[in-house]
Amino acid sequence: MTPAKKGEVETTGHEWDGIEEYNNPLPRWWVWVFYACIVWGIGYSIAYPAWPLITKATPGLLGASTRADVAVEIKRFDDANAAIKQQLVEADLTTVSDNPDLMGFAERAGAAVFRTNCAQCHGSGAAGVEGKGYPNLLDDDWLWGGDIENIHLTITHGIRNTTDDDARYSEMPRFGADELLEKPQIDEVVEYVLKLSGQEHDATLAAAGETVFLDNCAACHMEDGSGDPAQGAPKLSDAIWLYGGSREAITYTVVNARFGVMPNWNERLSEDEIRAVALYVHSRGGGQ
Ligand code: HEC
Ligand code: HEC
Repeated sequence: MTPAKKGEVETTGHEWDGIEEYNNPLPRWWVWVFYACIVWGIGYSIAYPAWPLITKATPGLLGASTRADVAVEIKRFDDANAAIKQQLVEADLTTVSDNPDLMGFAERAGAAVFRTNCAQCHGSGAAGVEGKGYPNLLDDDWLWGGDIENIHLTITHGIRNTTDDDARYSEMPRFGADELLEKPQIDEVVEYVLKLSGQEHDATLAAAGETVFLDNCAACHMEDGSGDPAQGAPKLSDAIWLYGGSREAITYTVVNARFGVMPNWNERLSEDEIRAVALYVHSRGGGQ
């Protein structure tokens, strides 16, 4: 280090190609701000949650908790909505749509319930997933009935699940797998279903298939193939398919049958949420 002469800045003594390094002290203001930050940091970590421990952080003397803040906010909204939720739970489902305030609330709350709980199977727009057995809830084709009471019942107890004894239940026989029909009869009845649904088919086989259909299928799907909501038997005389309307898909259904399962929601959602989502589905779909 070269001692500084008067009026000159001290240097560190480092020198590269004639370039020297000054040894300027840090500006006072900078040093004080630096110390102030340290003091503030210690104070903060005492007052607020700071140091991570194994399960949570040190709580801090002021007891601040963003989680508790959220809980308070949620409670505030719940309290604000308590009255209208109660009104929804007590309302006659068939007349809710006459009350614009209540219906508006139900549709908004129902849309939120739908996005969280139903969209993964029925699609975010409720249009279902054809071929996978997840029905479209927007059309006016209903497996189990599309009036508000039936939709409410379906959502409350679910379909063919093992968790609710009141779930809707029916079972199509496995005509091929259990050898209830011979292979040729299956081919015939499949052609007949193609004919019923207005698709290209073999007329001779379909004519023979009509008898097979009336004997084996009409009890559930009705003689004209219009289906039976009491048994969740789909309409076969339209172009809307749960599992697919191709020759292959229909053959697979007749041979192995299908067993679409929907969870019951009475254990997961509150009654006001079930009612809201039922009204939402009813208002979007071709509700009956
Ligand atoms: C795990 C997948 C799954 C979830 C989640 C699910 N569903 Fe379903 N849902 C199904 C299946 C599968 C069917 C058709 C069952 C059948 O074949 O009868 C169905 C049928 C329905 C039906 C009857 C449709 C008709 O045509 O009669 C309604 C209404 C319905 N779901 C509403 C809902 C609502 C509302 C929710 C959310 C609270 C929901 N579903 C969540 C799988 C699901
Ligand atoms: C005991 C009542 C019952 C009988 C009898 C029955 N079905 Fe079904 N069928 C059902 C039910 C219920 C479903 C819906 C299954 C599901 O949703 O998982 C169904 C579904 C189908 C489907 C699928 C429709 C779609 O949209 O993908 C076809 C095709 C079908 N049946 C054809 C037949 C034919 C052909 C016969 C006679 C050989 C027959 N069914 C006999 C109850 C029955």
